[in-house]
Amino acid sequence: MKIMVVGGGGREHAIIKKIKQSPAVEEIYVLPGNAGMNKDAVCVNIGAKDLDGIVNFAKENKIDYAIVAPDDPLVLGAVDRLNEIGIPCFGPKANAAIIEGSKIFSKNLMKKYGIPTAGYEVFTEMEPALKYLDSSSYPTVIKADGLALGKGVVIAMNKEEAIDAVKSMMEDRMFGDSGSRVVIEEFLTGPEVSVLAFTDGKTVVPMISSMDHKRALDNDEGLNTGGMGTVAPNPYYTSDVAEQCMKDIFLPTINAMNSEGRTFKGCLYFGLMLTPKGPKVIEYNCRFGDPETQVVLPLLESDLLEIMMACTNGTLTTDMVKFSDKHACCVIMASGGYPKSYKSGFEITAEDGMTADIYFAGAKETDGKLVTAGGRVLGVTAVDKDLESAIAKAYENVKKVNFEGAHYRKDIGKRAMAASK
Ligand code: AMP
Ligand code: GLY
Repeated sequence: MKIMVVGGGGREHAIIKKIKQSPAVEEIYVLPGNAGMNKDAVCVNIGAKDLDGIVNFAKENKIDYAIVAPDDPLVLGAVDRLNEIGIPCFGPKANAAIIEGSKIFSKNLMKKYGIPTAGYEVFTEMEPALKYLDSSSYPTVIKADGLALGKGVVIAMNKEEAIDAVKSMMEDRMFGDSGSRVVIEEFLTGPEVSVLAFTDGKTVVPMISSMDHKRALDNDEGLNTGGMGTVAPNPYYTSDVAEQCMKDIFLPTINAMNSEGRTFKGCLYFGLMLTPKGPKVIEYNCRFGDPETQVVLPLLESDLLEIMMACTNGTLTTDMVKFSDKHACCVIMASGGYPKSYKSGFEITAEDGMTADIYFAGAKETDGKLVTAGGRVLGVTAVDKDLESAIAKAYENVKKVNFEGAHYRKDIGKRAMAASK
């Protein structure tokens, strides 16, 4: 089969490395991919948001199956467009991808169907939002309605910070139209868990749980990033919690989307907080998480392509999805300065035999050399029998990868270690 993967980061690289193991795969094209993936797929210089380009490429190259990985093309309707020309896809159609594309949609969905989440109010005008802040308790959480590269959430510690956040979203349009409407919600506390789940719209099969590390610096300090590292499984996510989440969150969400005429097929990402009052949904994503995928898929023992096609065809069953009982740790190596401004173009070198464990995100080729070309440059994943060994191995391998100014957190998995003791 000829497979097309839309997207270009570490998550896509992890998906590609996994589907390459499937005997059905003959050729993998990735749009746009990055030069770090050259050994695993054919990179095609078409952007992930260029729907016309994607559709034309798929038609001309007689693609048999497409995997649309990032949020933007899903929300824009890439799956709808590809289906129109007869190409089956992994990923939700636009009318279901809205579960990530609009926070107001997802909050209203949860309220309507009794799915546990933080209490909230929606504002479409700035004045009432500012007025509401007078009577809010703090900290409070301000969220832009639309997609904002994972940066549209502000935890305001006091009224002044909250006013700043609302104004920068609604008046200064820091996130463009994504901030024309905002959600102001209750601040929750508790450990966070990411659960990615396969679904064909009827059956939902959760993957192994994971823990992201969103802040730039050790001890969860510094700015929010796209994610600086992950471990799987997440020790807070016990089998009791998993059972409760299936009953109160996963199945009700799939059923709610069906009731709304918005059947969700693909990977649904549940960002959960285990609060003192039970698990609650912090956010939904309509896709695999990044860098969660870089620890979840290396632990998958089943054929990923077969599972994906079952999601598309409506034939998913629980026994198709098997995970190993090992542990995984991914450490992201970023450009110095990320998530603020940083320099690019530094040569990336890795000791021989290392590339099998590297997922490239921001890399390009210049004069035959692989050089940095983004904030998050790559992730190094290690799998081992227990969490401690996986973490140790990941950091050993990080030492074998070099580029000028490389920045990475030294404490990925530390909290998980403490929790598992
Ligand atoms: P999101 O972009 O929705 O994943 O939010 C980014 C981060 O903000 C989450 O991972 C949480 O750590 C935090 N967050 C979001 N909503 C809340 C909330 N209601 N209470 C506390 N923290 C939150
Ligand atoms: N790691 C969080 C996300 O993919 O949105």
